[in-house]
Amino acid sequence: METNETITIYYFTATGNSLTTASVIASRYKQSKLVKINRLNVAEHPYSAIVGFVFPVYMGGVPPIVYSFLNNFPFRKDVYYFCVATYYTYKGNTLSVVNKITKNKGVCLNYGNYVPTVGNCLKEYEVSAVKRPAILERADAITNKIADAIKVKTDKRLPKHCGLSEKLHKGLFNLFFNDTYKKFILENNCIGCGICSKVCPVDNIVINNKQPQWGVNCASCHACVHWCPKNAISLGKSKGRLQYHNPNIRIEDLLH
Ligand SMILES: Cc1cc2nc3c(=O)[nH]c(=O)nc-3n(C[C@H](O)[C@H](O)[C@H](O)COP(=O)(O)O)c2cc1C
Repeated sequence: METNETITIYYFTATGNSLTTASVIASRYKQSKLVKINRLNVAEHPYSAIVGFVFPVYMGGVPPIVYSFLNNFPFRKDVYYFCVATYYTYKGNTLSVVNKITKNKGVCLNYGNYVPTVGNCLKEYEVSAVKRPAILERADAITNKIADAIKVKTDKRLPKHCGLSEKLHKGLFNLFFNDTYKKFILENNCIGCGICSKVCPVDNIVINNKQPQWGVNCASCHACVHWCPKNAISLGKSKGRLQYHNPNIRIEDLLH
């Protein structure tokens, strides 16, 4: 069922789980806009009565790029705001951090929730192809329930913030992912196609002499690793692990 209200959803995604969730929520509305979160600050509030943020959990918290985006967002009092985070097995304190950010800006988000789905942190693990369909089916069911709840403007406040927990998760993220840009390994089968550079959500990869070079602004999102058509990019122990992208998302959906 569609309503006449307009919705704008800001999303961050590497392998399409968060974009899939954002798309399902948007599909309930006649007028919807999906906007990719990038390094640019939002100067103006969108002309929408409903505004959402959808992104993955990173190390039990908010990905740094999303954190600074939310910190700079010009929140208003007369808008229904929601936030949905996709994750694999551990959601940590993600939504409580969002709560802190928005409270500091004088607003309370109206709705927050999580979607458990296929994990994409190939540096640490691979989710086997056998397990994926059931996980995605469940994610789809949960996403649809969330979309229904948002459509009727359900009030489901975000959990209370805990400073210690945020500090701990931030520390772990820095420990494991701060120097990701130094840790990519390029195999000989790279064909220099440049897809890694095109799917990088933060424009951190340039192609030089038909080879990718990573800058220092890596978001640790793993998009380059997962979308390489030759599986020629590895990170940590990810070599040989099965790549992943959400089956609803095509590479074209991520290209800029
Ligand atoms: C750097 C990094 C850290 C992650 N940390 C967590 C985590 O703490 N808990 C978890 O359940 N999943 C974690 N994940 C998995 C993602 O949250 C999950 O796969 C998400 O749905 C990916 O969304 P996307 O497809 O929109 O990029 C992590 C993934 C990456 C790349």
